[in-house]
Amino acid sequence: MNLHKAYFIGAGPGAADHLTLLGARALQECATVFAPVPYETTFASLLVGKEILVPFLFSFEDLLATLHDRLATTPVAFLIPGDLTFYSPFQAFIDLLGSQAVVIPGVGTVNVASSRLKKTLDLPGVCNRTILTSPRTLGNAPDSPTLAQLAAPGVTLIIYMNNLPLPQLVDELKSGYGGDVPITLCHRLDLPGETIITATLDSLVEQVGDRDFFNFTGPGNRPALTLLIVGETLTATVDGSWWNFRHETLWRHSAGQE
Ligand SMILES: C[S@@+](CC[C@H](N)C(=O)[O-])C[C@H]1O[C@@H](n2cnc3c(N)ncnc32)[C@H](O)[C@@H]1O
Repeated sequence: MNLHKAYFIGAGPGAADHLTLLGARALQECATVFAPVPYETTFASLLVGKEILVPFLFSFEDLLATLHDRLATTPVAFLIPGDLTFYSPFQAFIDLLGSQAVVIPGVGTVNVASSRLKKTLDLPGVCNRTILTSPRTLGNAPDSPTLAQLAAPGVTLIIYMNNLPLPQLVDELKSGYGGDVPITLCHRLDLPGETIITATLDSLVEQVGDRDFFNFTGPGNRPALTLLIVGETLTATVDGSWWNFRHETLWRHSAGQE
């Protein structure tokens, strides 16, 4: 019977600086750490003396067997890119482990993108809904939703794991948004080579040129570390009227709580 905990730690987009205090404390307890590439490097100072295993090199069954073996003697950590909230492949392990699994929230890729851009991704009067999506997961059935259907004025679209050629992606988005809408490409956030390009749907393809931010030319079919954000909120600015409206109608009457 192994009663040690398995910690699924939100590790942020890449740099150890975005690990939470809770995550750091859990990691410290663990002698074995499942760390996807390149976390074994970027988290190196927190992994000294620990056994480091790359989860994506194991089959599900082999990983489960290895995990149970290690849990007999030590708590085990998984460093989860971003965190579990969106597009994380670790759910099956967490479900099987039940109360032995502990999930620790972290800083998602989208949170770091927002901080780099210094923009909230919804903005009253500009953006009335935010949709997180990926062309990889929308499905290929005739009635599957398309990016073109999700794209519309007033929507902020956050696109993970793009696998569409950039001209095709932009054309789909333009059919819902029109061409004069801002789009930001965030590549390798928190990692060496971080690149952020803000353009419009009309100008993005030219601005990117022949740079491959989506692993189209590299080996394998692995999603690139590139997040796309589309919507008017990226370049909109606001004055203080919304603040004052909330001050008058809400905050003033609630002892300063939001
Ligand atoms: C499987 S999803 C993981 C998302 C993660 N769970 C999160 O909370 O951010 C992988 C996708 O997240 C985005 N991503 C992950 N790390 C990134 C980084 N360092 N820079 C930019 N995008 C990143 C990319 O869209 C990538 O294809």
